[in-house]
Amino acid sequence: MNNMPFAIDRPDHDLGLLLEQVHSGGGRDLLHAETLPPAAYTSKAFFDLECSRIFRKEWLAVGHVGQIPKIGDYFTIDLLGELLVVVRDTTGEVRVMSRTCLHRWAPVVEGKGNARRFSCPFHRWAYGLDGRLVAAPYMDKIADFDPKRCTLPQIRSEVVEGTIYVCFSSDTPSLAPRLASYVEQMKPYRMKDLIVAYTMEFTCEFNWKIAVETFMESYHHIGAHAATLQAEHPGGLSWGEDDHGTWTASHQPLRPDLPSSANLGSGLPPFADLTDEQVRDSGLYVVYPFNLIGTHADRIHWTTLVPVDVNRTKWIRHVLVQPEAAELADLEQIAEKLKASGKRIADEDLAVNAMQQYGASSSYAAVGRVSHLESAVWQLSDYVRRMIAD
Ligand code: FES
Ligand SMILES: [Fe+2]
Repeated sequence: MNNMPFAIDRPDHDLGLLLEQVHSGGGRDLLHAETLPPAAYTSKAFFDLECSRIFRKEWLAVGHVGQIPKIGDYFTIDLLGELLVVVRDTTGEVRVMSRTCLHRWAPVVEGKGNARRFSCPFHRWAYGLDGRLVAAPYMDKIADFDPKRCTLPQIRSEVVEGTIYVCFSSDTPSLAPRLASYVEQMKPYRMKDLIVAYTMEFTCEFNWKIAVETFMESYHHIGAHAATLQAEHPGGLSWGEDDHGTWTASHQPLRPDLPSSANLGSGLPPFADLTDEQVRDSGLYVVYPFNLIGTHADRIHWTTLVPVDVNRTKWIRHVLVQPEAAELADLEQIAEKLKASGKRIADEDLAVNAMQQYGASSSYAAVGRVSHLESAVWQLSDYVRRMIAD
């Protein structure tokens, strides 16, 4: 990547033409499937369309309840240009609010922590955990100003199986009923009870769809992870489920000649209710558009993405473990070891995906055919086609 020259400033693609190309690849089965056109990964106009027709309408994962177990716990996240704070309020409920001050727009809080109120650093207006304005110094002389009528805008949110989702549209139906089959399948992983062992964040120099696709397909183990994942979870054994509409999944079983214990060596307590087949499997789930869940016999790799621009994506991963793991004297060492191997694998993905983004901008880049091992790539492409259709 060191030899990569500066990107050439090209005129954007004709959006109408691009949409025709995008839709012409739809309605196929897996064995006839093809990728989206490369311009769907490089066109700013197409990204803007995804923002309005997908991200502004869908339920987007912002975090896991394990990040805010106690009343007053909060974390912040910026998504689609909106500055949000996710907080456990005084009633114990998870609440998501805008954190842009109602005075002159400074963010009232940053980062994460525990608070009784959010006090804006600019002029010290203060808000309760429910977003109500509780203090506004030197505003008592001001005409027609009633602090009681000032509340930080509340964002629609739902917690499903421990994941906190937000939705910026009031028309979108509730998410929980549409995830019923996912919740059923995830039951043995106790998702809503899990705690955060550690967090990893990456800035990805590529489009959000590349991040989802690479998470979901294991075909690339043969190349990008030849020295790591391929040995135990060879891509050729992976398989994908039928699309469930709101979510889909792929599976990467352990090599048959290896014992199940090969997936149990981390020192973390394994999930008690898994079948042997589940112990041997690493499941890869996406709740569309970009909540990525990797299941392991003893932990969950929980990920959400923040699409920043057409070719830039923030990747936030929480590794979730059972609450019993908090008792382990060596939890920190276990986490450090897992973090190091997780980073190695992530670096392998990030390098190849940045090059893929670079290649997609060539005028010779074209629609590609996909392997039967890439069912999730085909399914995501059809999801995007469905969502952006008029
Ligand atoms: S901008 Fe927040 S108090 Fe002035
Ligand atoms: Fe990978």
